[in-house]
Parts: sequence; structure tokens; C-alpha cells
Amino acid sequence: MAQHVRVLLTEEEVDARIKAIGEQISKDYAGKKIHLVCVLKGGSFFMCELAKRITVPVSLDFMSVSSYGNDTKSSGVVKIVKDLDEPLQDKEVLIVEDIVDSGRTLSYLMEMLKDRGPKSLRLCTLLDKPDRRVTDVKVDYTGFEIPDEFVVGYGLDYEQEYRNLPYIGVVEFD
Ligand code: IMP
Ligand code: MG
Repeated sequence: MAQHVRVLLTEEEVDARIKAIGEQISKDYAGKKIHLVCVLKGGSFFMCELAKRITVPVSLDFMSVSSYGNDTKSSGVVKIVKDLDEPLQDKEVLIVEDIVDSGRTLSYLMEMLKDRGPKSLRLCTLLDKPDRRVTDVKVDYTGFEIPDEFVVGYGLDYEQEYRNLPYIGVVEFD
């Protein structure tokens, strides 16, 4: 099926927002070190841009969980595909995610990481689709709240494509 991408948030809008979140985070964590935990693969583009805008010291780690197959709907199954390299004990942990949709992935992940004894555990997401929530998740930093549409770009994919778009768009089928 032919498809095209309609721009929802331009590159300039996304970059400006990430800069603003980076400034806010730098203020909130003044005098502290932040341990950024990126949820692969989608969170990686956001994490890199965000980390560049944070002025307090940061360290990075990565994990991969799966809740989606090659489909636009949540399967409800969350499993760890790649775990973190470092312990979280006594760290100021900030999870960086591309999007919170049903909330299943993040609520599972937050509960699991809490048990590893971080000093603090917060969540930063580039996008939030509040209309889709089925599980409660406390989001500490949000880039944009968006309507219930399937989006791609800035790390987000449709069947592994479009992650490299420098903007956020909606996939439309012709
Ligand atoms: P949740 O568990 O339903 O909150 O799903 C979160 C994960 O689903 C995200 O990390 C994405 O990988 C994927 N996802 C949810 N909505 C979209 C979308 O609109 N475009 C691309 N991926 C999405
Ligand atoms: Mg994700």
C-alpha cells in the first residue's frame, strides 16, 4: 500500500522544545549528576539531542524492551530484550522514551527499575498520547501531547522505517 508522511511537528519545533526541556532538567537537577536511561530504539534520537542540552553532568545507559510487533497496536506484552549495563543503585535516574501511548511499557519498566534502588527515578518522553492511556504512568517531562494518530520520525518507526526523519509526522495510506 502506498503511504506518505504528513508533518505534525517540524524539525524547528521539536528542536526548540528539546532545548527548553534540557534547560528545565538542568535547573531541576542543579548540583546533581543525571543517569539517563534510553529506551531503545525509539528513544535514542531524543536522548542524544536532549543530553546535548543538559548542562549538569550526565552518564548514559541503554535498554531495549518490546511491547509492539510490526504492528500499530500494542500487544500488551512487555519483555526485556536488552538490559542495562550499569546498576542504578543511588543514581538520579531519568528514563528517556520516545512516546507514551497505552502506558503499559513504561509502567512495567518504572516498577522494575524502582526495585534496583535508584536515589530518584523520573520519566521524560518526547511525545505523549494521553487519549490512549490504559495504565497509569507519571510523566515528569513531556515534549508534546499529541492526538491519537500513529506517528513516525525522530526515532519512531513504522515497520522499522522512518526513524531518521528529523521531524514528527503521521503516516497516511493513499
Ligand atoms: P505503550 O506501552 O503503549 O505506551 O507503547 C509505547 C511504545 O509503543 C513506544 O515506545 C513506541 O515504541 C510504540 N508506539 C506507540 N505509539 C506509537 C506511534 O504512534 N508511532 C510509533 N511507535 C509507537
Ligand atoms: Mg519506545
